Amino acid sequence: MTRQMRLGVFVQAAGHHVSAWKLPDAESGGENFDLIRRIAQTAERGRFDLLFMADGLTSELDAHPSTIVRLEPLALLSALAMTTTHLGLASTASTTYSEPFHIARVFASLDHLSHGRAAWNVVTTSYARSAANFNRGSHPEHDLRYEIADEFVEICKGLWDSWSDGAFVQNKATGVFADPARMHVLDHKGTHFSVKGPLNVSRPPQGHPVIIQAGSSEPGQELAAKSADIVFTAQGDLVEGQEFYRSLKSKLAKNGRQPESLHVMPGVFPIIGRDRTEADAHYRRLLELTDLPGALALLSDRLGHDMRKYELDGPLPDLPLSDQLRSRAELLTALARRENLTVRQLALHAGMARGHRVIQGDPVQIADQLEEWFVGGAADGFNIMPPWFPTQFDLFVDHVVPELQRRGLFRREYEGTTLRENLGLARPPNRFEAG
Ligand SMILES: Cc1cc2nc3c(=O)[nH]c(=O)nc-3n(C[C@H](O)[C@H](O)[C@H](O)COP(=O)(O)O)c2cc1C
Repeated sequence: MTRQMRLGVFVQAAGHHVSAWKLPDAESGGENFDLIRRIAQTAERGRFDLLFMADGLTSELDAHPSTIVRLEPLALLSALAMTTTHLGLASTASTTYSEPFHIARVFASLDHLSHGRAAWNVVTTSYARSAANFNRGSHPEHDLRYEIADEFVEICKGLWDSWSDGAFVQNKATGVFADPARMHVLDHKGTHFSVKGPLNVSRPPQGHPVIIQAGSSEPGQELAAKSADIVFTAQGDLVEGQEFYRSLKSKLAKNGRQPESLHVMPGVFPIIGRDRTEADAHYRRLLELTDLPGALALLSDRLGHDMRKYELDGPLPDLPLSDQLRSRAELLTALARRENLTVRQLALHAGMARGHRVIQGDPVQIADQLEEWFVGGAADGFNIMPPWFPTQFDLFVDHVVPELQRRGLFRREYEGTTLRENLGLARPPNRFEAG
């Protein structure tokens, strides 16, 4: 079979565009379960690999409308596990503001509830303001956050191996419920954590839930190359995408891994029209609708500097590299320099997809632009970020997916039942078992 494209839908329930919720055909609300359930069903009808819920640990009035309030994603995905059968269910959880035992336990539980469809987007949490909600005096700096994340993920993997398959023999004749030989105590004592184990959930159906990593800085790539099955990223330019793809894949060998064991899935914001003219009209409408203060807030968060202080129609000033979303700040700065954008123009761009790649056209043109990156060594698949829901995502599933299928680039039926099976990824062996 020819290499297949991976597709995920990144759900921001008010749409990805900062102001598209104002459109007459947009439905919105971070807590609109009925909408999210329908999006999941549409994704499954389109044979998508996964649905992804991002997460943050603060709320601000000027935040993106999808993120001012939102349902806690693990609770939400557990509900979606009951209304879907094949779709991977992915969510963010922070390694800076959680404990490994807790995270290992909730993702193992989701994997059981969904019969092997759970995925964890490992994030280190960029925003320092999160510390105030977690009884912390300060937010750890960028590289330290990644050092903590590395240890955190290793512990979770060890905890998921706490029980060998079949450990719960439940032998009524002998009275043995759990086979002691198949229980493994991690007993981790490291730099940042001390975790005894075993986990109080049996080994997940996937062995380990799928691990996603979404930071593209050097330490982010190192973490991904060691631990991740999928990488989400935000390059907007083909050459940048190819460089990132090559850089990341080149780090796999030293971790004893093959290039195919990690799928790179850049975010894409497709503006779909029945023809190019309609797609261009949607683009202009989105620009007109943009709430500038909201877009400036998004840009400020991505750059790690308050952009309201600068001349809106002047060039992007030279700013020191931020401790927040390091790679995103670099991508947005490179874009502004390459295209000579003013602060206002860069804010309008950030209001679209927060720096992810924006494409537009009719369904065939959208498929062309996805294929270009997929065959051009910049992507193994895409995290689709519809400008608004549900209509733009319906168009993707009903018109772009069949075009990709016609080209032999995307599945017509799920290959398996677990997310790992559908992604073509092996079930990891249990570290405690010989051989
Ligand atoms: C598609 C995508 C989704 C992300 N989702 C989240 C999220 O839900 N929560 C979060 O705190 N950060 C999220 N991030 C940000 C990353 O975790 C990371 O902080 C950011 O890309 C900067 O990484 P770097 O500091 O390694 O450059 C996401 C990034 C991407 C590309």
